[in-house]
Amino acid sequence: MEELLKNIKEEIKNITDLKSLNELKIKYLSKKGPINELSLKMKDLSIEEKKEYGMKLNAFKNEVNNLFDTLKEKLETEELNKKLENEKIDISLPATKINVGAPNILEKVVEDFEEVFMSMGYDVVDGPEVEEDKFNFELLGLPKGHPARDAQDTFYVKGDEMLMRSHTSPVQARTMLKYEGKEPVRIICPGKAYRRDDDDATHSHQFTQIEGLLVDKDISLSDLKGTVTLICKKLFGNDTITRFRPSYYQFTEPSVEMDISCFACKGNGCSICKNTGWITIGGAGVVHYDVLKGCGYDPNIWSGFAFGFGAERCAMLKYGINDIRTFYNTDLRETRNFDRKDAE
Ligand code: DAH
Repeated sequence: MEELLKNIKEEIKNITDLKSLNELKIKYLSKKGPINELSLKMKDLSIEEKKEYGMKLNAFKNEVNNLFDTLKEKLETEELNKKLENEKIDISLPATKINVGAPNILEKVVEDFEEVFMSMGYDVVDGPEVEEDKFNFELLGLPKGHPARDAQDTFYVKGDEMLMRSHTSPVQARTMLKYEGKEPVRIICPGKAYRRDDDDATHSHQFTQIEGLLVDKDISLSDLKGTVTLICKKLFGNDTITRFRPSYYQFTEPSVEMDISCFACKGNGCSICKNTGWITIGGAGVVHYDVLKGCGYDPNIWSGFAFGFGAERCAMLKYGINDIRTFYNTDLRETRNFDRKDAE
């Protein structure tokens, strides 16, 4: 046994992998191996001898097994560590950058408006951008030859009957005529409008308006004020204050300009509001008697209010943009910047 143990210890020293260890184990511990041979000798011994021999043999076997088990454990750990080392992922390597698209900021402002109005039960409707003179002007109290038409430098498409709509207000007339004076109207219409303006930082020949119309019974200017105030609080912050200033439009009476308290300086005066504390965001008013009548609504039964927000203006103010052309160029760096600002 001592001889064997010495040999095993000698051989096991050189083992560095599990496979060789297993082979060595088979060599010594299999049925045909030398250790089993020692066990077989038991049967030739007397009872006395068996006892002593048995104890020695067991201790010897335990020691041999221990040698194998210890090395097996050590080799297994080493193997696992090697595997972990090889499969290690270097997370410090910078990933490939993926450019994801970002919504155009103007589109986003329009969607914000839509969402708030829809939550108040308004429908979002569409109208044609190439419009008839009748809807763009005549039904809105601007007959041919009316001097106020000049203020809306219009692109005519065909003679003087078809034009690029100069505002989104024709959708008011179209909607009322479609409803045939029978039911209440509650719509907004976001869309493009066109005027023969020279493009500069605050003017564009194409711009976006958000038109609104509500026709029902007993509607007054205070309903308009309440609605606009609520909308502006939702879009520009809860502490926003709204102010109406007297104005003039042919299709509303009375007419107002809608101002909100400057959200940048909270009304104290800053460069955004040109030190006035107020920002104009659109026009509005109570729908004119003649407009209701001309579009099939009996003004003695129905009344309503209408408004038109300037979408670019709202977006410029909200995102601190000082050039309206920013919305129409395709510089992705700009769009991404706004996206980041929005996320903040
Ligand atoms: N259409 C007007 C413009 O382009 C804006 C406007 C004013 C719309 C008053 C309205 C309104 O619906 O009631 O300047």
